[in-house]
Amino acid sequence: MQKILAFETSCDDTAVAILEQSGRVLAESIFSQLEEHAPYGGVVPEVGSRAHIEQILHVTKETFKKASLKPDDIDAVAATFTPGLLGPLLVGAQFAKGFALARSLPLIGVHHIEGHIFAGFGEKNFPKSPFLALIASGGHTAIYSCSHDHRITTVGETLDDAAGEAFDKIGRALGLGYPAGRLIDELALEGDKDRFIFPVALKNADGYDFSFSGLKTKALLLIKEQGLFRGQDLADFCASFREAVAKALCQRALKACRELGINSLVLGGGVSANSRVRSLMTEYAGCELSLYLPKVSHCTDNAAMIGKAAIVRMAEGRRSDYSLDACASWPIEESEKLTFFC
Ligand code: KG4
Ligand code: ZN
Repeated sequence: MQKILAFETSCDDTAVAILEQSGRVLAESIFSQLEEHAPYGGVVPEVGSRAHIEQILHVTKETFKKASLKPDDIDAVAATFTPGLLGPLLVGAQFAKGFALARSLPLIGVHHIEGHIFAGFGEKNFPKSPFLALIASGGHTAIYSCSHDHRITTVGETLDDAAGEAFDKIGRALGLGYPAGRLIDELALEGDKDRFIFPVALKNADGYDFSFSGLKTKALLLIKEQGLFRGQDLADFCASFREAVAKALCQRALKACRELGINSLVLGGGVSANSRVRSLMTEYAGCELSLYLPKVSHCTDNAAMIGKAAIVRMAEGRRSDYSLDACASWPIEESEKLTFFC
């Protein structure tokens, strides 16, 4: 069976995976740059690029070791080429190109969001297309439609902040460090979600767009008025905030599925690791929707998802040109331009 080597370096994780063509992950490794960026309270692109350069060879060697494979065993190479931070993207893209060129292997340039959409590809309960995907991460929050032939279109998207960005901004204001989504989720476990009332934007609006700025402003105002929350107050604040984000995401996704007549929904992106988003969407889905939730380690950025998106494109007979360049932004509707039929 063919083996694919995949790289993901679009932000602050240096991630490498080796997969079989079936989607089975043989090995994966990840170096998180959280410590490098922590002093700055956010991701610094220049610091990230350098850390990727320092780590990518080690992480690749470690992945080969875990899989008990050699570079000669690889049949195709995939990497995230867009969207993301240009410096970090270039490191993974150029490393992948070098590996592919040196061995005359097919190269597959992947759109990062397609990676999140196909993170569960090959798993037993991953739906057959068509399906909708709710992808909520630090940089993106949108609902996408995946057609029979795996073409992706945007159905609705955030008009302002991404859901993860809202978690991170509130976390920073609460003095919880960066990124804060996971910590807010943990603190919320002991909290009362009905203690603070936060707005759920665009609740009854037509269409499937999101907005998190009103919620963020309300939360920041409360922090300003009441000072830093502590103990039970902090837990209640986190639970109430988390509930508002989860409701906004899940209500829109359910509405889109119902109105568009699609009964399969895939969740993805860092915020889909959120325990309330997972439980609320499971509740809403009931028997009406077939819901796919990625395992928590494949919600946040990872290279296995890039390998899986590449497998979907390879199955269509597509590959990329060795001259393909990394790009900071690229509409998902045009992601097919990353590859050509060979
Ligand atoms: O998908 P991802 O790893 O990177 C991007 O493509 O942006 O998502 C990272 C985002 C961060 O904003 C982080 O705070 C958020 O996902 N996140 C969470 C949780 N785990 C990660 N947000 C809420 N609850 C979580 N458990
Ligand atoms: Zn991501």
